[in-house]
Amino acid sequence: MWYFFSPGIIYGEDAIDFLQNIAGQKCFIVTDKILEELGYLKILTDKLDSYGKNYEVYTDVRPDPTEEGVLKTKELLISYKPDIIIALGGGSVMDTAKAGWALYEYPEFGVDDLHPFNMELYNLGKKAKMIAIPTTSGTGAETTWAVVISRYEEEVWKKLEQAHKGLIPTYAIVDPIFPAGMPPELTRDTAFDSLAHSVEGLVSVWRNEFSDALCIKAIELVFKYLPIAYKDGNNMEARDYLHQAATIAGLGFGNGQAHLGHSMGHSWGAVFHTPHGRAVGLFLPYVTQYCLNNPDESDISTEILGRSAKKLGWAKWADDNRKAAFIIVDKIKELMKQVNLPMNLKDLGISRDDFDKNLKMLVNLCFQSSSSVMSPRSPNTEDYNKIFTYVYEGKDIDF
Ligand SMILES: [Fe+2]
Repeated sequence: MWYFFSPGIIYGEDAIDFLQNIAGQKCFIVTDKILEELGYLKILTDKLDSYGKNYEVYTDVRPDPTEEGVLKTKELLISYKPDIIIALGGGSVMDTAKAGWALYEYPEFGVDDLHPFNMELYNLGKKAKMIAIPTTSGTGAETTWAVVISRYEEEVWKKLEQAHKGLIPTYAIVDPIFPAGMPPELTRDTAFDSLAHSVEGLVSVWRNEFSDALCIKAIELVFKYLPIAYKDGNNMEARDYLHQAATIAGLGFGNGQAHLGHSMGHSWGAVFHTPHGRAVGLFLPYVTQYCLNNPDESDISTEILGRSAKKLGWAKWADDNRKAAFIIVDKIKELMKQVNLPMNLKDLGISRDDFDKNLKMLVNLCFQSSSSVMSPRSPNTEDYNKIFTYVYEGKDIDF
């Protein structure tokens, strides 16, 4: 038995108008100050006003949301008692709202209770529907079961990767009006998050036939539309397809899982605060090489990525799968260059001294990441040390 979970998805221009069809009068909006200042919150509240719905707004979500922020959201939800919760924002906002929703429905629970074996969480939605409106095109959090919450413990910020299928929003409203104003760097970083979800999702140990199809489609869309949207942010066709790609990738990796690029990216982000998409995008070609070099012959990553390269039209059907699979790595590197994504950790401006001082911590954090066990090839401490060092220098993984 396996399973595939998805929110109801409304996408394309004017998708936001679907809100008027959702039963409920009291809306609690979770967002951040930047979106308020940019006028995106007003687009939403004007719509709610026109539908005659009431709302209260919480704008205090910060990047890398903390456990404290989630508990604050829970308190506000319990006091306002909404029947609709709307997350308007990127991954941080959506994760805060999803976790807050679960704790509102089950006030006896805390963040540690948001785990896959908590059967009660399958019953979310009795008090409120959860609507996710992504404003960036990358995290896929509008479709996924995961929430990433930071907790300060043992003198370091740790990213808790909590997850439950019940945390998947009721609806995702994927309207390109919201990411339309993203500057080029944010467009690039978030699209590389989608790309990392799709390429990792293709070979993770939970991959399946449903997730494969979605991951390949998302890769195709990112490669076609990122260069266009990076150059011309006003190209609404490119914005729309990149936005759809993020949701499609979210469904793919949300039902298949990401792996090493995300455990290493989260670990790196916790220590050096590189934006998530930039970090996981940077690790992507290296962790893909590491998987393709797996000496374990039962690992089918090479076959899957080889076939994927052929389906994407990057290799010939007659090509050897190993050769075809490595074309995916080359294509990712080409795209990184095309949109000026840093190609190695050194290029992020981290000194060798700082890197060496933190290497042990970086590796330890990887072992605490649930994504690490989703990899078709599991690194030991020595391998993690080597991979980080190779990525720092920008050397191809040859082991
Ligand atoms: Fe991600």
